[in-house]
Amino acid sequence: MKVLITAGPTIESIDPVRYLTNRSSGKMGYALAAAAAKRGHSVLLISGPTSLEIPEGVDFIPIENAAEMYQAVASQISRHDLAIFTAAVADYTPSKIAEQKLKKAEDEMTLTLKRTKDILGSAREAMNFEGILVGFAAETENLLENARSKCLKKRCNLIVANDVSRSDIGFDSSENEVTLVYPDHSETLPQDSKENLALHLIEIIEGI
Ligand code: PMT
Repeated sequence: MKVLITAGPTIESIDPVRYLTNRSSGKMGYALAAAAAKRGHSVLLISGPTSLEIPEGVDFIPIENAAEMYQAVASQISRHDLAIFTAAVADYTPSKIAEQKLKKAEDEMTLTLKRTKDILGSAREAMNFEGILVGFAAETENLLENARSKCLKKRCNLIVANDVSRSDIGFDSSENEVTLVYPDHSETLPQDSKENLALHLIEIIEGI
């Protein structure tokens, strides 16, 4: 299969030296890319900035912000049979990037943000993607309910949900525990290294 994977965080500039980002290390997405390549698939990894090495045999497009990730996915997705979205994409970005470094003045300052495009949510409609679509859901409450709603709304074959309120799994840890949420049922996999989980997930997705 030809597999597209998004990974890592996005960084949204405020001014030339400051930005908004999140705690994604990229480990889950890079482990999936390595696992898919190991299983003989052709893999394109589209990633925000991380400190990880690009897995062997994997094609790579680096991006910085949510708008660049949207463009990269939109231009590539139609060439793929499977798309897996593990990236932690900013939902909001500063409305304006200041040209010069912002100076401190008042005791409080307000930053105005605007919505970014939902890349996973655009795959079926705006990008006309007809392949297997797998999203992730980073939840701190109502894991199953929120993940199922994402699965149905974004017309995914599968949502891989993780509880990101726990520090031993999810963001920036080496292990994860995920619940596979399909349109009509769900199944929790035991906690394991992201590498082992990634291999297991790729095998499960091959079954779809
Ligand atoms: O990178 P690690 O440190 O290994 O951590 C892994 C992880 C916790 C980041 C990963 O397992 C995970 O949960 N990724 C999804 C993070 C996320 O942003 O979840 P969400 O519930 O906010 O988004 C739902 C889905 O929509 C995700 O597939 C996301 O990639 C996608 N999305 C979100 C916003 C947006 N503008 N465009 C998107 O495509």
